[in-house]
Amino acid sequence: MASAATARAHTNIALVKYWGKKDAELRLPFTSSISMTLDRFYAQTTFEVLPASGESEFILDGAVVRPAAAERVMKYVKLLQRRFSVSGNFRIVSENHVPMSAGLASSSSAFSALAAAFAKAYELEVSREELSRMARLGSGSACRSVFGGFVKWEKGTDDASSIAIPLVEAPTIDLTLLAVEINTKQKLVPSTVGMRRVVETSPYYPTWVEDTERACTLMEEAIRAEDFTRIGQIAQQSALDMHALNLTARPGFTYFQPETLLAISTVEQLNAAGVECYFTIDAGPNIKVLTRAGNVEEIVSRFKQVLPEVTIAASSFGPGVEFLR
Ligand code: DP6
Repeated sequence: MASAATARAHTNIALVKYWGKKDAELRLPFTSSISMTLDRFYAQTTFEVLPASGESEFILDGAVVRPAAAERVMKYVKLLQRRFSVSGNFRIVSENHVPMSAGLASSSSAFSALAAAFAKAYELEVSREELSRMARLGSGSACRSVFGGFVKWEKGTDDASSIAIPLVEAPTIDLTLLAVEINTKQKLVPSTVGMRRVVETSPYYPTWVEDTERACTLMEEAIRAEDFTRIGQIAQQSALDMHALNLTARPGFTYFQPETLLAISTVEQLNAAGVECYFTIDAGPNIKVLTRAGNVEEIVSRFKQVLPEVTIAASSFGPGVEFLR
């Protein structure tokens, strides 16, 4: 068989964070998590099954990825091939549509788009639920990008039950996410590594698990009530808890840079001045600001004053996985 398929998946940002696995191979998390899928950033991936003579390759944004860097993706495809009893060499051609240098290049859209393109290329009849399970095996957060809008990843107890479910697929709440990219060349602790260190060494990890379960319940209520203030407050606290936890690992570490703290205090000052906004931060120094459409201009201009080097991109709710051919 030699067939190909193209899929697009949008990046998601966790409002209640996933930070720690109890099963590293199956990527089963210790906690559930909740995210919003973005309209602005996505990965578009073509998966092609090659004739027997073809060599497997991974092309990202027009360049062949060297074997060492492609290893995670290649291993992932082989895992899916075993799972579905299909075979063959393959070519993956992926484009990251992220209108900034690196700040939002995300494994969530990448593995979700790849899982979908793989399924279609092999003509596997998979449900969205199964697609979410497949995406999770590539990167935990990717299971949430299968769906649009507000999404919950139910932690589950095993491979079958640990999947994302849509909470509100096309939300009408007035909510804009501003991705503020702080330019930094700092080398990061990959999220897989950071969360493992925390699980294995932080004496506070059990508290994180309890708090996150509670945060999920509260966040779900806030989403259903379209309560922007509660959504923002809970999201901000979840991010602060996650970053506080990193400091308590042995050895402790942080993703924050001096500019991250400046950005946090900028959000606090805006809030104090009556411009309601909240922040969330992932495994890097960049900050994402949650606000209402009417505040965007003022927030952007304040950030440009305080941190003239930043790039800011506004995003709203995006769709789930789409098949292009
Ligand atoms: C901080 O999904 O990248 O963005 O499962 O090891 O691939 P792996 O981790 P990944 O971690 C995401 C961490 C986060 C929080 C989140 O998206 O929930």
